[in-house]
Amino acid sequence: MAKNIAVLTSGGDAPGMNAAIRAIVLTAQRYHYNIFGFYHGYNGLINNELIKLSTHDVEGIISQGGTILKSARCKEMHNQAGIKQAINVLLKNKIDALIVIGGDGSFKGLIEIQQQWQGQVIGIPGTIDNDVDGTDFTIGFSTAVNTAISAIDKIRDTADAFERVFLVELMGRNSGHITFNVGISCAAEKVLSFENFHVEDEKSTINQIAQQIIKAKTERHSSFLIVIAENLWPNGSQALANQLKEKTGVDCPLCTLGYIQRGGSPVAKDRIIATKMGVAAVQAIKEDKSNVMIGEKNNVMCLVPLIEAIKHQKKVSPFLVDAQENILSITQQTEV
Ligand code: F6P
Repeated sequence: MAKNIAVLTSGGDAPGMNAAIRAIVLTAQRYHYNIFGFYHGYNGLINNELIKLSTHDVEGIISQGGTILKSARCKEMHNQAGIKQAINVLLKNKIDALIVIGGDGSFKGLIEIQQQWQGQVIGIPGTIDNDVDGTDFTIGFSTAVNTAISAIDKIRDTADAFERVFLVELMGRNSGHITFNVGISCAAEKVLSFENFHVEDEKSTINQIAQQIIKAKTERHSSFLIVIAENLWPNGSQALANQLKEKTGVDCPLCTLGYIQRGGSPVAKDRIIATKMGVAAVQAIKEDKSNVMIGEKNNVMCLVPLIEAIKHQKKVSPFLVDAQENILSITQQTEV
């Protein structure tokens, strides 16, 4: 039976979302389904901003960051009136299946819709934060990490040349996937994230880092790079920069990489995972599946109940955290 499938992108855009849209459109056409897009995330669903998508619309988009369907955060989806309106629009347009590409917040909206609508709902994890459970990687994470690495490598050049200290703040909302992976990849002297810092350790952490900075300056004559997760430090990362300067007398400028991490052409890993997930999403619809997120675990595509995907925030690899804290970190290094 021919189905009408609609797709939307929601929440923070992530490099690779376009690759997923392309794969969805091509797979839908392969199975002779009608494929539509809603602009502006759930806002566009509520306001019926529907367009028909064709092969022509997705030509050349695999290499583009952002999302051709635009994205938004949608307050209306937090109340019943908004959810009902979204469902009315789906019914009015005779949509049989809705695919949402976004993070856990976007999946909560999808679960709400599913509870009151007969159609199929499928989630595809698209967020640079990589914090969605049930999949090894989310679309956009790898590109964000690579972007941050290349920016920090440049900062490191200046840091080395001047034997300076830098504090670099990374995105991730309340998760440390970006911070830990980037910190390790850039050989940061200190990684500060939710997995290894607790507010009650504020004073001892400052004292410890201050000692390390003084050693780096006086004994090793080397640069010192700290990476920190956004939303981590009490009163913000600039407060830490000030506290360190006060303790050491050494300048500790803060570089907030911010939205640079969300943009840019997706790296191969994101194009490929996004394509696999887009194909798998339409195949799941073909097999009458619903209420699931497409994931990939150990190189195998899988369907994860949406409720499971949002239950817990995915943990940063404990191996990675342990290796950084107990082996790689500058405090663990002793000359033999
Ligand atoms: O979820 C992606 C993300 O970029 C987070 O890392 C960040 O905390 C947040 O979105 C920023 O959201 P906004 O685009 O609403 O400022």
